[in-house]
Amino acid sequence: MDKIEIEGGLRLNGEVSISGAKNAALPVMAASILGPGENIISNVPVLRDISTMGKLLAHLGMGYHHEDGEVILQSERITAVEAPYDYVKTMRASVLVLGPLLARTGEAKVSLPGGCAIGARPINLHTMGLEKMGARIALTEGYIHAKAERLKGTTIYFDIPTVTGTENLMMAASLAEGVTVLENAACEPEVIDLADALRSMGAEIEGAGTGIIKIRGVTSLSPLNYRVIPDRIETGTFLTAAAITGGEVTIRDCRPEHSEALINKLQEAGAQIRQEGSALFISGSGRSRSRDIKTMPYPGFPTDMQAQFMALMSLAEGTSLITENIFENRFMHVAELRRMGADISVQGSSATVKGVRVLAGAPVMATDLRASASLVVAGLGARGTTLIDRVYHIDRGYQGIEKKLEMLGARIRRVRA
Ligand code: EPU
Repeated sequence: MDKIEIEGGLRLNGEVSISGAKNAALPVMAASILGPGENIISNVPVLRDISTMGKLLAHLGMGYHHEDGEVILQSERITAVEAPYDYVKTMRASVLVLGPLLARTGEAKVSLPGGCAIGARPINLHTMGLEKMGARIALTEGYIHAKAERLKGTTIYFDIPTVTGTENLMMAASLAEGVTVLENAACEPEVIDLADALRSMGAEIEGAGTGIIKIRGVTSLSPLNYRVIPDRIETGTFLTAAAITGGEVTIRDCRPEHSEALINKLQEAGAQIRQEGSALFISGSGRSRSRDIKTMPYPGFPTDMQAQFMALMSLAEGTSLITENIFENRFMHVAELRRMGADISVQGSSATVKGVRVLAGAPVMATDLRASASLVVAGLGARGTTLIDRVYHIDRGYQGIEKKLEMLGARIRRVRA
């Protein structure tokens, strides 16, 4: 298993370019099930999760090719309707094929994801919505088996705003009969991006980005040719990495407006940040000040940045309270940060982080994607050598992270197993 070794304590300086958003590209790839023909998606990052989705779509009978950031998906024929356990256990986002498969073929069989490193993560809201649209759903041998002749539009209320749930139902509703209204829908930029992609295929969708999304079903959709948005979590991770090292970094090809909550917190913590079009300039100045955060659905502070921000707060002046409201078990990085000398205690959904003056490099273990990003951030701010094990987690969501950081002056290398 590969490891990443970081010699900490160096300031990051220079320019970095942000890749396409994983969590936008995955649903757009699933949406290509709905448009028979050649679907072209650009700005797709080269990541393990993307190739997992590609392989899953190929398993369903589609052609899949990914080169130079462009994905081509041939969806003339769908020859299978099952997303097997092997794909779903590797990547929960495999569940995004449920809605479009059902809408296109009248049947979908998707392995039920189990719990994962950050929480139980049920998909009851996805299935509730499809059932309300007339699907017959059975759970057999660990699989959700859904059938429907043609789904029917209806009003669906989500108890909790769910990102992939909103996306699944938006895709299903695009080919349903009549109007579907999604209430308390997720407002994340990735949901808007999927709506834009679906509209480019001929779908009729209004209100994406607000809590109420209205979809008027059509009888067929065309293949898509679409460019996905830049990754706001990769953007945030580089901002935080620059801040912890007190460096000066220009982040190019991003969408600053998607990172407002984080930018505000970093500014309050002492960083100077300027936006100009699709670029962000950050200048970290000495030790950060502690700040409290609470993770919330967009536009609140993103749960996917909680771990990285905690790494920054570990070295800040003062005490910060970090509250995780989205996932019940997203503090796995705490034990690893403690091994580096961080002073963090957890009670329920809150972590109290007492800033220390120095973190010391140590061997640590990545437990999930964003937890591993926090260890990279901590390693960059620490004295000495940090060796991060199980970096396959980071390869799921960050394209060439060690190369990008090296370009910024970090002493970082991948140790091949
Ligand atoms: N929830 C339910 N029932 C459902 C669906 C969700 O109770 O049917 C709960 C979840 O357990 C959680 C909350 O609702 O407590 C919100 O979860 P959501 O469904 O929004 O999460 P997701 O769609 O599974 C996406 C991202 C995650 C990101 C979350 C929250 C993708 C592929 N994944 O997950 O990204 O953390 O939204 O913003 O878009 C990551 O990239 O590292 C990552 C985990």
